[in-house]
Amino acid sequence: MDSFTYRYPVTVHFGEKAAEKNLPAELARVGQNVMLAYGGGSIKRNGVYDELMNLLKAAGKTVTEFSGIMSNPTYAKVQEGARLARENNIDFILAVGGGSVIDCCKVVSAQAKTDEDLWELETVLHGSPTDFIPMGAVVTAFGTGAEMNNGAVITNETKKVKGPLWGAFYDFAILDPAYTMTMPMGQVISGSFDALSHCMETYMGAPRETNLSDEINEACQRNIIRNLRVTLKNPQDIKARSELVWAAAMGENGMLKIGKVTDFQAHMLEHQLGAYTDCNHGQGLAVIHPVLYRHMLPEAAPQFARLAVNVWGVDPTGKTETELANAFIDALADFIREAGLPTTFTEMGIPADTDFKAIADTTVLTGGCCRKFTKDELLAVLNECR
Ligand code: NZQ
Ligand code: ZN
Repeated sequence: MDSFTYRYPVTVHFGEKAAEKNLPAELARVGQNVMLAYGGGSIKRNGVYDELMNLLKAAGKTVTEFSGIMSNPTYAKVQEGARLARENNIDFILAVGGGSVIDCCKVVSAQAKTDEDLWELETVLHGSPTDFIPMGAVVTAFGTGAEMNNGAVITNETKKVKGPLWGAFYDFAILDPAYTMTMPMGQVISGSFDALSHCMETYMGAPRETNLSDEINEACQRNIIRNLRVTLKNPQDIKARSELVWAAAMGENGMLKIGKVTDFQAHMLEHQLGAYTDCNHGQGLAVIHPVLYRHMLPEAAPQFARLAVNVWGVDPTGKTETELANAFIDALADFIREAGLPTTFTEMGIPADTDFKAIADTTVLTGGCCRKFTKDELLAVLNECR
């Protein structure tokens, strides 16, 4: 295991009525002017908006609304939020939604405090923002675990790049599984697969010999698979939903990454696919993963074989490491079909004339890759996904 320093700055309030029980005390600690940020309006339809508004009013806050944050949030939307925050002297941001709202606000919180162009600062000058508006997150769509980390995935439409910007950590996150019960089933499934993908991408990173982080990771993967199966049968099962909400948070709260450098190649490729097609994140991952993993053999065979036995319950008796590794990929592909996730880009509605070469060429891979793919290999993976 590598050396590490671990500190976790986000207070998590989990469970039934978590907002009602904890938001009053959290709001008492923050300034007068609160920005309530949300997406396209699901929170108005399911009652979450009214509940939170009542709590904000009871706390005597002056509320500015920042709405219409789209899936795959854009850098232009970040700038809109930052302008609004400056004009209204915002002291605190309450982000209510899934990964898109939560990510967008991480960068709004930094951009509102500086005139520097944050995209330029972070991606060209390799600097980091230092001043932030404090924030709280209320999760209404689980999967990304975005509430647990300080990375934001933002689409810069002008540059055709969907990439990470580093913002602030949330001071607190409210995870009430009941708030997620109105999620469309397609989003429940793609969010669950995203959570599973985060676990796998972390597992595939370095170091690769058995370690505590990976053993906890295997438990998270088993949990997601089991509880998604329960949810497929009964979408309203609140116990299974609660497990999924917390398993997704575990995937991104740093615990599984302790002492590891992650792989995340499927993610980096999917993000660029998103930059060019605005596709659903979890669905894109579901198509890419099995194809990418077949290319990753034989380098990944020891880890794949472990996953086959420890996560997917494959009987190792009489099987070689390569056979077990293939059994893992087969089990993963079967599960994707069982969940009704797409298996090709065509099924996702991605146009055949998409510039896949440009996507491969602009994908940036990070440090801990099991085997870092070349641009040609990335293009081969994308072509097989079509
Ligand atoms: O916009 P509204 O009307 O709220 O509808 C949303 C949206 O259409 C809907 N929704 C959310 N909660 C709901 C609900 N509908 C009914 N009832 C509810 N309770 O769900 C739709 C999808 O929401 P979105 O936030 O876009 O989905 P998700 O949570 O999957 O977030 C995706 C974004 O997060 C990034 C992705 O790349 C993508 O941009 N990611 C962020 C990560 C991070 N910061 O750690 C990690 C991930 O790997 C990922 O890249
Ligand atoms: Zn993801």
